[in-house]
Amino acid sequence: MKKFNILTLGCQMNERDSETLAGMLTEMGYEQIDDRNQADIAIINTCSVRDHADRRFFGMLGQLKKIKEKNPGFIVCVCGCMMQQQHIIDQIKEKYPWVDIIFGTHNIHRFPRLLGNVISEKEKQIEIWEDGGEIVEGLPSKRLYKHKAFVNIMFGCNNFCTYCIVPYTRGRERSRRPEDILAEIKRLVDDGVKEITLLGQNVNSYKGEGGVDFADLLRMINEVDGIERIRFMTSHPKDLSDRLIDVYRDCDKVCSFFHLPVQSGNDNILKRMNRRYTADDYMELVRKLREARPDISLTTDIIVGFPGETEEEFEDTLKLVEAVNFDSAFTFMYSKRKGTPAAEYDDQIPEEIKHDRFDRLVETVNRCAADRNARFVGQITPVLVEGVSKSDEGCVTGRNPQNKIVNFPGDASLTGTIVNVKISEAGTFSLVGKMV
Ligand code: SAH
Ligand code: SF4
Ligand code: F3S
Repeated sequence: MKKFNILTLGCQMNERDSETLAGMLTEMGYEQIDDRNQADIAIINTCSVRDHADRRFFGMLGQLKKIKEKNPGFIVCVCGCMMQQQHIIDQIKEKYPWVDIIFGTHNIHRFPRLLGNVISEKEKQIEIWEDGGEIVEGLPSKRLYKHKAFVNIMFGCNNFCTYCIVPYTRGRERSRRPEDILAEIKRLVDDGVKEITLLGQNVNSYKGEGGVDFADLLRMINEVDGIERIRFMTSHPKDLSDRLIDVYRDCDKVCSFFHLPVQSGNDNILKRMNRRYTADDYMELVRKLREARPDISLTTDIIVGFPGETEEEFEDTLKLVEAVNFDSAFTFMYSKRKGTPAAEYDDQIPEEIKHDRFDRLVETVNRCAADRNARFVGQITPVLVEGVSKSDEGCVTGRNPQNKIVNFPGDASLTGTIVNVKISEAGTFSLVGKMV
């Protein structure tokens, strides 16, 4: 049996696309393996959101060359967001001629055809589509997890935040039909899935056929028997409607968790980022969400060192983090992305200042996270068990509705069940307890 390996960089969108690639290859009779040295086909699904991901990719290509030198039949495939940028394609053609297949984010369904061509014609295949066009339904999928699943509800982004490459790599917003989404979720339930995460770059601007908006869609999914937990990623504050906040009052399967990227706590920076809300607007959303769901967990994304950011403007971000008291945050140093407006701004921040701000921000975020986790000590919380813990022997690990990692004594037989755990200890990144 021929074997394949996939390396996925980037966000859940890419993870979901890799599941589709794995599904297509499995249907073609290939087997997925973890060791790429033993594989006949290697795929790298790339991310271009920050420079770090770019560099990791080019490092990996170097490693794949060595495998190909030993095994000339080895097929190297690259796809994902980086491939939607012409300068990257040019660079691969010039410096990495051993790559066999290049495709983008809009045509992953074409992969079996491209692979067939490489095998029969022994010729390099490059196929990039400029934009998404019709959404292709019914592609196979080999899921990463048994009891939880990602479900795409929309593709692309129309927001053009000035730092961000995603609108250029994922094209304009397109929403799937509600009935296609519901049918997929029902199939997942039949397959043993209890938790779904709805995916989109900006799920709040979901526009389904028949005028169904994101709040309507959540209400429809909440009615599906067998689904126990509903999550979604990611939301843009400017589109978070009161109708969505009402869903948190009414729909018990929608988890007490909200990831709401704020990016900065300063209005001038937010404006220059083209985010279209103010720090006060954001605080008002936080207030409403906590009013609708008092036990809600709030997480965010923050960028430090955006071009022109002054010390005072950065301190506004620290203040906002403290004022919200986030459960956790993904923190990033601004990274220049070719083709985005902010890359052309002439007031770029020196690296050492970015590092200093980053460290101070992480310290503040961690303090908030520890404080928020401490609220669970003494409480009983339901945990969907994901499997045995890799670090603590005799323990299993899972997540509660607030998306906190919970570790407790137990064995593999608990995997996929939801059990009640009494929390005894809380750290910055996880909780510890005992099953009750
Ligand atoms: N659509 C989502 C996620 C976009 S990418 C959203 O709007 O929230 C995930 C995060 O990466 C962003 O929220 C942002 O914080 C960060 N990011 C995007 N571009 C970046 C850049 N050029 N430099 C640093 N961080 C960036
Ligand atoms: Fe990027 Fe902004 Fe779109 Fe998010 S909303 S993907 S940060 S452009
Ligand atoms: Fe990266 Fe593309 Fe996701 S740029 S963050 S993989 S949408």
